[in-house]
Amino acid sequence: MAQQRTFSIIKPDATRRNLTGAINAKIEASGLRIIAQKRIHMTSEQAGEFYAVHKERPFYGELVEFMTSGPVVVQVLEGDDAVAAYRGVMGATNPADADEGTIRKEFAESIEANSVHGSDSLENAAIEIAHFFNDDEIVG
Ligand code: CMP
Repeated sequence: MAQQRTFSIIKPDATRRNLTGAINAKIEASGLRIIAQKRIHMTSEQAGEFYAVHKERPFYGELVEFMTSGPVVVQVLEGDDAVAAYRGVMGATNPADADEGTIRKEFAESIEANSVHGSDSLENAAIEIAHFFNDDEIVG
């Protein structure tokens, strides 16, 4: 299968509970490699722009507030079929629907505070990676 890169965020609910290492362990156990990573505190502008596709959704304002409520860890993951593979590792958006063993089943607090984000397509992965990383920050 083709090597791909996908974009991941460990969200404020997870950094607050000191779960960065536990989530990274699940990512690495799946075979995906964390090839870039940094801890940042998003501005409202950054979060609003990142989630612009959800602008018309009723939860948009709260989502931006949540994503700026504490530090996040932004990551680039690489591996076979990485976009779909990471979505499998994360589990369903709503933790109530997530499969056993997934990050969201194990760690998410709610549909909003769902611990992680992962790109939904290869095209969006490239856009999202470029949003947070310069080429020279991704060393493989
Ligand atoms: P994510 O995969 O980052 O993509 C959009 C985010 O919006 C999602 O994870 C959740 O954090 C949030 N979200 C999605 N649906 C809802 C909802 N119904 N209510 C609140 N937040 C939501």
